[in-house]
Amino acid sequence: MLRFLNAGESHGPALTAIVEGYPSNVKVSSDRINYELSRRQKGYGRGGRMKIEKDTVEILSGVRFGITLGSPITLMIRNKDWENWIDIMAVEGEPTDKRQILEPRPGHADLVGGIKYGFYDLRNVLERASARETTTRVAVGALCKILLEDVGIKIGSYVLSIGEKKVDPDKLKSLTFEERFENAEKSEVRIPFPENDQEFKEYIDRMKEEGESLGGVFEVYALNVPMGLGSYSQWDKRLDGKIAQAVMSIQAIKGVEIGDGFSLAYTTGYNAHDDIFWEKERGFYRKTNRAGGLEGGMTNGEPIVVRAAMKPIPTLMRQKSLKSVNIKTKEPFDAAKERSDITAVPAAAVVAESMLAFVLAREILEKFGNDNWLEIKERIEKYRQYVREF
Ligand SMILES: Cc1cc2nc3c(=O)[nH]c(=O)nc-3n(C[C@H](O)[C@H](O)[C@H](O)COP(=O)(O)O)c2cc1C
Repeated sequence: MLRFLNAGESHGPALTAIVEGYPSNVKVSSDRINYELSRRQKGYGRGGRMKIEKDTVEILSGVRFGITLGSPITLMIRNKDWENWIDIMAVEGEPTDKRQILEPRPGHADLVGGIKYGFYDLRNVLERASARETTTRVAVGALCKILLEDVGIKIGSYVLSIGEKKVDPDKLKSLTFEERFENAEKSEVRIPFPENDQEFKEYIDRMKEEGESLGGVFEVYALNVPMGLGSYSQWDKRLDGKIAQAVMSIQAIKGVEIGDGFSLAYTTGYNAHDDIFWEKERGFYRKTNRAGGLEGGMTNGEPIVVRAAMKPIPTLMRQKSLKSVNIKTKEPFDAAKERSDITAVPAAAVVAESMLAFVLAREILEKFGNDNWLEIKERIEKYRQYVREF
């Protein structure tokens, strides 16, 4: 089974991931991984950290002459900021009070993490709970995208709203998924209509001046996914559940919908489902996609569409402070920090693409085998023909 573990602190020397179960004979490159890493670092409204870091991957195992070996792949991304934190984040030696955090920030893992793991210095918690961890998710996701793209599966995302600023849903319908993606790649806020960037940016600037932060909604999709990934046979084999877990696991994501999601609850059955059609050349297909490509916990051959809601970034600027209590003295104080993203919805969308890529790559390998990619690819092609001719 394809799996990965990642490790690393936000200001530690490096972030690493070990990917296991990735097949042999896939042509991979650090350039492709770096391209995805740079996409995660973009987005208007990011804080100072993203200006310090320029994430680049080092592949330490599992690849030889650009081809995967079927053995574990180790990916490492060094934290440039580490130079400024060597004594604070030292692995050995005497502890320091420098940059100690005794003031838990509401909306973060700080308070509960400190109590649960038994630390007063909450830096021990936030260093790992930080969304800097998603860097390695994107690196792993890039490997998964390489594999999926080789069999024609395309993954993308675009932002639908940031705070109260929304993309026009009727205008959105006039664009294909690929057009939405291509436009979003040109937008500083990842919206499918970059001509509206200025409006979004001014709004983000206004909120920044007020010391506020913003969340938003984005959509992730996968095209050309073969029918029949996932299963209805057991609760933990249902692919809708696996996708929801993977996307919900991203820091600050508080809602995940598949297809028309929550809005289906407000309509009637006749308007909620997708009629089935058949044509000799195409096999079975749908004209609508309210189910978002998933029925009975399995892909149905239509685009997978996942929407996620991100809460506003919990670290606020000085002017507006959430209330908290010092973990040692129990004195109340205003939880405020200077350096933080105002919003990271565009970056979260890129992370969600990576999580969807990982889940789908795992399902593909589960169904079609997992050692030699050249054999697996042939099986996928044969299966696609079988489905068309069924
Ligand atoms: C890409 C990305 C960047 C983020 N940047 C920040 C940030 O700069 N400051 C901050 O306070 N939270 C940031 N967050 C959100 C926090 O990591 C998250 O809210 C916190 O770890 C608590 O987890 P929870 O919201 O899932 O409960 C970011 C999240 C993502 C996905």
